[in-house]
Amino acid sequence: MKKVLVTGGTGYIGSHTVVELQQVGYDVIIVDNLSNSQPDVLENITNITGIKIDFEKFDLADRKKTLDFFKRHKNIDAIIHFAALKAVGESVVQPLNYYYNNLFSLMNILQGMLDNNIENLVFSSSCTVYGQPANLPVDESAPVQIALSPYGNTKQISEEIISDTVRTSKLKAISLRYFNPIGAHESAKIGELPIGVPNNLVPFITQTAIGLRDQLKVFGNDYPTPDGTPIRDYIHVVDLAKAHVIAVERMVKKNSKYPYEVFNLGTGKGYSVLEVIKSFEKVSGIKLNYAIVERRPGDITEVWADTSFANLELGWKAEKDIDEMTESAWKWELALYNNRKKTTK
Ligand code: NAD
Ligand code: UFG
Repeated sequence: MKKVLVTGGTGYIGSHTVVELQQVGYDVIIVDNLSNSQPDVLENITNITGIKIDFEKFDLADRKKTLDFFKRHKNIDAIIHFAALKAVGESVVQPLNYYYNNLFSLMNILQGMLDNNIENLVFSSSCTVYGQPANLPVDESAPVQIALSPYGNTKQISEEIISDTVRTSKLKAISLRYFNPIGAHESAKIGELPIGVPNNLVPFITQTAIGLRDQLKVFGNDYPTPDGTPIRDYIHVVDLAKAHVIAVERMVKKNSKYPYEVFNLGTGKGYSVLEVIKSFEKVSGIKLNYAIVERRPGDITEVWADTSFANLELGWKAEKDIDEMTESAWKWELALYNNRKKTTK
């Protein structure tokens, strides 16, 4: 049984990936400091898969603790590195926290890998590296543009750190550039758990519909798009999770074409903010309270992925459509609501 270390495995994308890994027979160990996730995610994963998970709680930015972890775990075949801080707006006001957390964690993991001959790394990158691309759909050869936030910059610098390390060692790596992950596992036992007021569109929609927020603000309808609202490539988190399993398999089976590879993970289709709202209203039967307000600084007009490289090389294709995404997000919000009702009784 191959063993995979999943950093940030109690988080949103990590937890869905752990489920997919376990379901195809990988032995998983999670490291997470729980700075943006809850320990009961572990039990919820086990409820889905029926398999218990090894878990260690510590900060991967702590070099001593990270290197000590690797000394105690010699039999790791691959690492999926999700652990990072990810709030774009917060990164603008706390840049050093973001650089410290995201870059030291990565460098400590890479050092642990080199010291212990662990060769395979999958890294969570983002389509933010493309900024507003000149051509759409955007493929992996598009130039990386100056980052609009310290968070985005940590992804760009991380990709460079990985590529430099691969060049001078036996390390192999795959960076996966996610477009906009949304939705939740069909069981509604795991999903996105934003702490405080959500920054992202879909959690804000579902929290408004459930009554936690008064009104969704649609940030601008004067963009040069068909309905005036920005367009993104939303991808179901389970489709995204499955791509990680394939990336691990590719490296473990030594099928990588190059020591360092980069893939876009999206659906290849773009939806506007108003189209996402329409999809949500259709699947939930709820009329959403929303208002058009000013643009949000830093938002680009439109982006969607050219996924042909991932489709061809990984043999992977996103399967779930926008309605399945918004429906699963709504089912998850309802499950959270029912749990809150139970605990306040
Ligand atoms: P998340 O916050 O739900 O999960 C990240 C997990 O990492 C959390 O459980 C957190 O506690 C943990 N963590 C953070 N810093 C740590 C540290 N120093 N040591 C140990 N654990 C630490 O985020 P997510 O949405 O699941 O994102 C996973 C990855 O994907 C991140 O690297 C993120 O930047 C990237 N990404 C996310 C999106 C998105 O829209 N969700 C888009 C593109 C890229
Ligand atoms: N939006 C609203 N109202 C809201 C929230 C969002 O109108 O309350 C709009 C935004 O203006 C944007 C669209 O919905 O047009 C999507 O916004 P999100 O915040 O959900 O997603 P972003 O495309 O801004 O960015 C997200 C993550 C980044 C990640 C990027 C690409 O926040 O971390 O996807 O993966 F890098």
